[in-house]
Amino acid sequence: MKNILDTRLWHGGDYNPEQWLDVPEVLEEDIRLMKQANINCVSLGIFSWAEYEPKEGEFYFEWLDKIINRLYENKIYTILATPTGALPIWMQVKYPEVRQMQANRIRNLPGNRHNFCYSSPIMREKMRIINEQVAKHYKDHPAIIAWHISNEYGNNGNDSSCHCPECQKAFRSWLKNKYGTIEALNAAWWTKFWSHTYQDWEMIESPAPHGESMLHGLKIDWKRFVSDNIQDFCKEEIKVIRKYSELPTTTNLMGFFGNIDYFKLQDKIDFVSVDAYPSWHEEKEEINVAVETAAIYSLTRSLKRKPFLLMENTPTVTNWKKNNITKRKGMHQLSAMQAIAHGSNSIQYFQWRQSRGSYEKFHGAVIEHQGGEKSRSFKEVQSVGACLKDISDLIVHTCNKSEVAIVFDWENWWALDEAAALKEDKEYVETVLMHFKYFWEKGINIDFIDMDSQYMKDYKLIIAPVNYMYRGDYIEKVREYVHNGGNYVTTYWSGIVDSHDLCYLNERPLEDILGFHVDEINLLSNHQKVTFNYKGKQYLVRSLCELLSEVTANTLGWFENDCYEGYPAITQNQYGTGSCYYFAVQPEYEFLYDFYEDLLNKLGLRCDISHQLPKGVTVALREDLGEKYYFIQNFNDYKVQVALDKPIKKMPSHTLVSDSLNLEKYETVIVTI
Ligand code: GLA
Ligand code: ZN
Repeated sequence: MKNILDTRLWHGGDYNPEQWLDVPEVLEEDIRLMKQANINCVSLGIFSWAEYEPKEGEFYFEWLDKIINRLYENKIYTILATPTGALPIWMQVKYPEVRQMQANRIRNLPGNRHNFCYSSPIMREKMRIINEQVAKHYKDHPAIIAWHISNEYGNNGNDSSCHCPECQKAFRSWLKNKYGTIEALNAAWWTKFWSHTYQDWEMIESPAPHGESMLHGLKIDWKRFVSDNIQDFCKEEIKVIRKYSELPTTTNLMGFFGNIDYFKLQDKIDFVSVDAYPSWHEEKEEINVAVETAAIYSLTRSLKRKPFLLMENTPTVTNWKKNNITKRKGMHQLSAMQAIAHGSNSIQYFQWRQSRGSYEKFHGAVIEHQGGEKSRSFKEVQSVGACLKDISDLIVHTCNKSEVAIVFDWENWWALDEAAALKEDKEYVETVLMHFKYFWEKGINIDFIDMDSQYMKDYKLIIAPVNYMYRGDYIEKVREYVHNGGNYVTTYWSGIVDSHDLCYLNERPLEDILGFHVDEINLLSNHQKVTFNYKGKQYLVRSLCELLSEVTANTLGWFENDCYEGYPAITQNQYGTGSCYYFAVQPEYEFLYDFYEDLLNKLGLRCDISHQLPKGVTVALREDLGEKYYFIQNFNDYKVQVALDKPIKKMPSHTLVSDSLNLEKYETVIVTI
């Protein structure tokens, strides 16, 4: 039987009725307004632990039963959370060890959220008890459609990690399991440097500002451990749920979030969901924010290569950024449709109703302190709901496919950021987004893969920016991919270290298929201006240059000045039936645009709708068994005209448009060919 989750597009959001239990008329009003706003599901119980268990061992669910039942009578489903996102104060007071210890070894005081110790046996025990109570109580409730496990794991404002004695113990056993012997660990961590050889596992301490903060092997393993430990906690939460319920599980992710390897986390859950709070209107043009947001959705979709749910976004404004700028009229519709365009099957809000007090009282909501259904926020949400209803049957079973992938790898990110070389900011995510931008501008879907990916062969083109660390069987996979006809683009500062973060000696792997040897990599100072020439056009180097020798690859671009003059900057090498492209230079976007323009022409990759999209306009394609729906979106605050390469049909109205399509400010049009 089809899971109900896959049967429609969802519209709803985080609902916190526990804050309003003593104002029952508000709860009644909520149902009336939800129906008006075309809401068909809510997320409940995310921060309800203290309401469920006000005193240790005493559980109360009647308050929530009433709410879930009333919602269900009104055809509003529930995504039910496990409440571990925030712990009751009584628990934090009685059991100090559930609270995290910071890297400076100071134990946190009770308070805040997302900040419990993932190793603590008491924490795990308390989690099992509450999850069991919730799962047992709600296991057969027809209103529940999915489990929302905890909330934004790891989002506690620092490095997500706890450094308490239990975590040290867990870290040591994780290391033992990984290395087997202390000698193997010493070798992998290169501990003879500064006399840091460990004789015993018990000598190992997590990184600390007042302790070990420079041993790269320790630091990257600590990041791996923290990421694994959170995943293990998530697995344990789900194990309890599974005793009672087979409903699908998810946990809400945060896009390019540095502390958890989401490619690994994804297989602990049944479907992926994400929270996104793009900073619209912060820049004069929306393009960069739109590119970053599209990349977040594409990454989220790529984790399982399936549609996902947008679990949280704001209808209007956030309250936690440096500047919290409200979405202008029409932006909410555009922003919501952007998520759908890139693979979301829902638009969910944080939050349904604004809190009356405390930290989030000024965060945007569907229902604000003033205005109710008359507010702009409400009306815009209502029209997003109506639109989702309209397109639900058409879209819900489709997904984005892509012939292009970018390698984005968390461990590479960690190692690169840690490397004390060249410059502090390695700009990994920024660089990835710069490559992504071209495809956004051209309306071409793009996926993300990590170095463990088994799907390389599915792509015509793989882009691997700054692959500093080669890990697992990545080297062999790239070799095979190119040999069998793949097109592989990679860049400067790649293939430097192995999975232990140890530098490759003598030559970097894959130099044979790239067709050169790298002699040097250098950072330019602000006053050094180096240019390179590609196909007769001059481009500025952003800040890094490499010197190549023994070049057998074809040179497509040369450095023009300084000590780099005459050296290859851009190369192409045939290997097997495929091709490798290399940038021995950190270029600006202008070069990437021209380069990909040539390459995509060569590969015959292009958007079906138009080969000349106006600036600020993009296309994303969702498809299923030959049905294709193109989302054409105008991120400009003015009208544009798109020159069409072929006639299209607007959906769901089936209106035929030939030659050119007019798009209003912030408009989205769904079309088929
Ligand atoms: C996160 C949390 C929510 C809420 C929002 C505010 O996404 O999951 O509980 O705090 O931020 O933007
Ligand atoms: Zn701990």
